[in-house]
Amino acid sequence: MLNNAKWISYPTMPSGYEAINLKKDFCTNDVKKATLKITSLGCYYATINDKRVGDFILAPGCTSVKRVQMQTYDVTKLLDTNNTIIVTLALDWFKGRINSKNTLEKPDWYQALICELEITHKNGEKEFIYSDKSWLASMSKVRFADIYDGEHYDALFNEEYVPCAEFDYPREMIVNQQGEKIVEHEVIAPHKIFKTPKGETVLDFNQNLTGYFEFKVNAKAGDKVSFSFAEVLDSDGNFYTENYRTAKSEFEYICKDGENVYKPRLTFYGFRYIRVNAFPCEITEKSINAIVLHSDIKRTGYLNSSSPLLNKLFSNIIWGQKGNFLDIPTDCPQRDERMGWTGDAQVFIRTATYNYDVERFFEKWLRDMRLDQFKDGSLPHVVPQYWSDEKPSAAWGDAITICPYQIYLTYGNKKILKEMYPGMCKYVAFMGRDSDRKYLWTGGVHHFGDWLGMDAPAGSYKGSSRMDYIASVFYYYSTVLTVKVGKILGKNVAKYEKLAANILKAIRKTFTEYTTQTECVLALYFGIAEDKKATADKLAKMIKDNGTRLQTGFVGTPYLLHALSQNGYSELAYDLLLQEAFPSWLYSVKQGATTIWEHWDGVNDKGEFWSKDMNSFNHYAYGSVADWVYGVGCGIQTVEDKPGFEEIVIAPVPTKKLDHLSAKIETRQGLVSSAWYKEGESFRYEITTPVNATIIIDGKTYNVTKGSYVF
Ligand code: BGC
Repeated sequence: MLNNAKWISYPTMPSGYEAINLKKDFCTNDVKKATLKITSLGCYYATINDKRVGDFILAPGCTSVKRVQMQTYDVTKLLDTNNTIIVTLALDWFKGRINSKNTLEKPDWYQALICELEITHKNGEKEFIYSDKSWLASMSKVRFADIYDGEHYDALFNEEYVPCAEFDYPREMIVNQQGEKIVEHEVIAPHKIFKTPKGETVLDFNQNLTGYFEFKVNAKAGDKVSFSFAEVLDSDGNFYTENYRTAKSEFEYICKDGENVYKPRLTFYGFRYIRVNAFPCEITEKSINAIVLHSDIKRTGYLNSSSPLLNKLFSNIIWGQKGNFLDIPTDCPQRDERMGWTGDAQVFIRTATYNYDVERFFEKWLRDMRLDQFKDGSLPHVVPQYWSDEKPSAAWGDAITICPYQIYLTYGNKKILKEMYPGMCKYVAFMGRDSDRKYLWTGGVHHFGDWLGMDAPAGSYKGSSRMDYIASVFYYYSTVLTVKVGKILGKNVAKYEKLAANILKAIRKTFTEYTTQTECVLALYFGIAEDKKATADKLAKMIKDNGTRLQTGFVGTPYLLHALSQNGYSELAYDLLLQEAFPSWLYSVKQGATTIWEHWDGVNDKGEFWSKDMNSFNHYAYGSVADWVYGVGCGIQTVEDKPGFEEIVIAPVPTKKLDHLSAKIETRQGLVSSAWYKEGESFRYEITTPVNATIIIDGKTYNVTKGSYVF
């Protein structure tokens, strides 16, 4: 790919995070069609004759460093007789702070461009312009750009061009664009501009979001614009950035004379508030808008209820997904992480696939997972792999089995199973080898456990559920999924079937008691518990003894309500869903959350923060509860042997605690919806299915063909 073009860059490596420009002037005429094929190491921002090429923000996207995606743009309308193409490059995901340990073989690689412009003239003749030594290079007016630290732009900086340098980087790493591009979405005006008790000027956009902003100001040359970003105010109402940890997340701009209109080119921010550190005049609602960025995924799922608090939770889940689906599924979009944490993605994927069409998005990320899987079958904590050699944690590494299987269930995609199956087998083998006891996964010290569980001992992030138990259960679950996938692909899975049976036996023999909420939840949901009733009773008692409140962390929470409703405790599941006291989903809503918090206790009821260093206010993991609302509350379920909603089971579970609950999912087969309304002592159900469905209401089964039904 791009065989005649050369990798080019600035002749010497910039000393810090300065962006560079690569430029080519050329003349042409009688253009019928012009196509630009382009990619880079580092992110690029390209213009032709000062007009932006395409709408992909932070192209070429975030991938394993072993590959880069190439974009193809139709640029016919941008061309004139005399043309200038300028491509600005920043290290960003390739080798910026987020990936300072880039594991490529050559540590001195830095931002570089490769591209080809194909011009077809009206007479049918073709002309090509390739990136090569004839291009010029300069340091850019973007004086600084980094994913974590933000952007500095100096409109007065003189971009002095010198001949560029060619580099001998490989071409085999170039692949066609696979994921969804990141594009601009909502434009949001400031909701409020106010002064904090400290006297600082702060803009409130009333929504925690991921993106950037555009401002407009008339200024004198040399005037400064400077912004900082925050998700929350502290208990005194002051601007608070400590939870961003080392991410500077700042914006600096030096104005030119006259009108200045600007939005950042090579970074993004996670924020609800902007502090105005400097602005040439008084800032007003007209001076600035926030612009939401996320991958161009299509919304497919909608939840609604009679409870305003619950509806706000649903909205927060959607915003959590938008804010963290920026080319890869990230843990959070603001502090010095923003990484493709495998566990978080695994926890949230069921919800993610209903809310949005994320098939392509996950296909790309899973391909990176395969590329970055270690030779011994283990997996990095984060994909793309930004750290060198850690061992995977149970429930994090299992993203390699759980995520592809969910993409198959929701979209009927077998291709991804085929691609990932060898990796699944290797991961299962790794878990077996990493254990000090046969058929269990024990002895590992590298697990995150029930991360952020409320039953964590003081000073620890890890809930009290036993690591060896969690690890063994996920060893079992991943083996079961490997069997399922192997069968779908027509493989001989006898070995894995036997392994799964042996693991189950060993777990049952070794872990005879379940000591925490999460341990009970896993025992129920994964079919470990032999006496389901006793285990469910125990779980229910633990919850009630705790004031009808959960204690689960990342591992237990996604399955908590399922474990209850599958075992006769639907009302208790609703009690937890509707609980408003801490810790609960609605607690954060009542505290004013506009996204999902990382920690149940992000802000306690005195308005204090639970921690400085692990306290994101935009962490989608606990938003995974939406999957229960779609699948149980409203009862819309995929059928394992008819994936992609080819057939549907709809088995709503209503409660008198709500007047109404409804879900709609735009599936590949058409719209499926399920709503129920409390009417006196009973319920009215309205159901629409695009395909044959089994509807189960009040224990009665109705086999229906496509259509709309009222019960
Ligand atoms: C991340 C998580 C992640 C965890 C691993 C955190 O720093 O933000 O969401 O899963 O580390 O335990």
